[in-house]
Amino acid sequence: MSDKPKYYLTTPIYYTNGLPHIGHTYSTIVCDTIRRYKRMRGYDVVMTTGTDEHGVNVERSAKKAGVPESEFVAKMAAEWRALWDELGVQGDEFIRTTDLKHAHTVQWLFKLCRENGFVYPGHYTGQYCIYDNAYVDVKPGENCPDCGRPTETVTEPNYFFKLSAFQEPLLDWYAKHPDFIQPEARRNEVLSFVEGGLRDLSITRTTIRWGIPVPGEEPHVLYVWFDALTAYLSAVGGPNYEKIGYWPANLHLVGKEIIRFHAVYWPAFLMAAGLPLPKQIWAHGWLLMDSAKMSKSLGNVVRPRPIVHVLGMDALRYYLLRETVFGQDGNFSYDALVQRYNSDLANGLGNLASRTAAMIEKNSGGKIPKPSALQPQDTALAARAQEVIGEVLEQYDKLGFSLALEEIWSLIAAADKYLTTEHPWSLGESEADQQRRATILWTAAEVLRISIALTHPVLPDSTTKVWSLLGQSGQPGSIALDGLRWGQLAPGTPLGKSQPLFPRIEKAEAIERMEAMEKEAQNAPSPVTTPAPASTPATNGAAAAAAAPAATDKIGIEDFTKIEMRVGQIKTAERIVGADKLLKLTVDIGSEIRQICAGIAQYYEPEKLIGRKVAVVVNLAPRKLRGVESNGMIVAASVGPEGRPVLAGFPDEDVEIGARLK
Ligand code: MSP
Repeated sequence: MSDKPKYYLTTPIYYTNGLPHIGHTYSTIVCDTIRRYKRMRGYDVVMTTGTDEHGVNVERSAKKAGVPESEFVAKMAAEWRALWDELGVQGDEFIRTTDLKHAHTVQWLFKLCRENGFVYPGHYTGQYCIYDNAYVDVKPGENCPDCGRPTETVTEPNYFFKLSAFQEPLLDWYAKHPDFIQPEARRNEVLSFVEGGLRDLSITRTTIRWGIPVPGEEPHVLYVWFDALTAYLSAVGGPNYEKIGYWPANLHLVGKEIIRFHAVYWPAFLMAAGLPLPKQIWAHGWLLMDSAKMSKSLGNVVRPRPIVHVLGMDALRYYLLRETVFGQDGNFSYDALVQRYNSDLANGLGNLASRTAAMIEKNSGGKIPKPSALQPQDTALAARAQEVIGEVLEQYDKLGFSLALEEIWSLIAAADKYLTTEHPWSLGESEADQQRRATILWTAAEVLRISIALTHPVLPDSTTKVWSLLGQSGQPGSIALDGLRWGQLAPGTPLGKSQPLFPRIEKAEAIERMEAMEKEAQNAPSPVTTPAPASTPATNGAAAAAAAPAATDKIGIEDFTKIEMRVGQIKTAERIVGADKLLKLTVDIGSEIRQICAGIAQYYEPEKLIGRKVAVVVNLAPRKLRGVESNGMIVAASVGPEGRPVLAGFPDEDVEIGARLK
């Protein structure tokens, strides 16, 4: 067992009756950033995310799609999971509320609450919002006060939870734990709600089938919020939570609309069961589109994938964390997104990295130079960097992402200005000039190293590239931020390979591409009604050219740009036992080495493939072929009636590994 302090945090458990938009993405990315940051501060971190799969909404959506609920939720959960992978989210636990271990935990929690005298049978009639899965305080015929959609009158026998018994204990808890609910405005909102008196809560349903049954009491199933909240606990051991060691959670991160469920109901359930309470609940604001909360029902959603395809996942992560003050609402705009991308990422971080590396390459034989006598402007920049380290850690600790990034970018700007005023490029070849140039370049590289370490939780992908460009070993995620200091960049370290970071992009074109993809995504059929694409080892391993498409099958450029193809170089190739058509390859695609299976074993000798440059589709979801993971696809022509694969290649020119095919 690790002796590091434990830190457990959670995202909300998302409904599976829809697909993720950037509102959901925001919660998840924030959590992922905290997770990465806490790791770099020496914690043993577990982050849980997952899907909330029960309830009448899913029952209805599955019926509409003509599939059983279990199939519906399995496909939707897979979509959520795949998206988080694409966004670099490193969830440790992905809990589905249809998991068996979760059902056991929910039933166990109910039993504890009941044994302790906080559950009793009764009848309930009320207006129910099926979209929010909650009874709402309105008259029949009135719409839900939260989402504005119609409510339904529901009467049913059910079990009540004695929430009223927890008014005093909750108020007492809030008073003794002033940081329990954050930010302050949400804390006040919850306090006045609880001070206004709590009514008992119906926690089972007999009108719904698709839920976790109350053992021996069918047709009672547990209320979706009793069910979903418990996912936080079932992900880390449920009844065995003490043995696993991560409960109570340090942080539940939620959107502000679900603060009441987390800060009132959830602690009351846990108190009733005699279980420890989470340490903190942080409610963030909403992403707005045209001043309204982005939501499927309003039809104003923006999805993450088009942004990731056009600008990359780091651009989305950066924008979401930089542009919105955490805790407050923030407006989404494509214009501001591309603006930030070009000014902060391409011209800011990207430019500092590429110009510093290029100058070191040219003047210092590709090795980090050795600084000598320092001038006041060098020590001033060093002092500023040291100060920024402290300020950024302080901001991250307060979840002040926007201010943390502002600090880092002020350091990047200071380094840029320093390079401009010191202009190392105009120094000559005298001993003194060479020494001065070495000092300036080392200083710029050291600012870059520190900026990369501090930015890594937000920009995991690009910081990894710059880290290896600086010749640093390991991954930036393994840097101990507590030990980060000015002056640790070792002279003589050879630079690594330069990789494309943030190519500048023309704003109008980028927006047009993202909007076109967004429109297409909105018109796309649900993944549940769409049959899975047929694929065989041969089509996954080597792209067999399909019959020429009919004129009506033509695709737009936005479809083509979804496919990311790059030049790769085959590093190793071997046969796979029991799969006579497949070869297992490792391929250098510039940014990383990938394992890819290709259905070319009958036509290519593995040893003759080593060193060969090929075209690789790099953004295919990974899959297993004959038990071997394949992470990408090698492009090949399919020749003759037997479909002999002929690898696409670059015989005329020595193309750079990682170059994009367009
Ligand atoms: N299933 C419940 C949560 C159960 S937690 C035990 C639920 N799911 S949800 O799919 O509707 O996702 C809710 C979360 O997504 C919100 O709490 C919030 O974190 C995030 N967001 C959804 N829309 C959002 C915005 N427009 N802006 C920011 N975040 C938003 O509620």
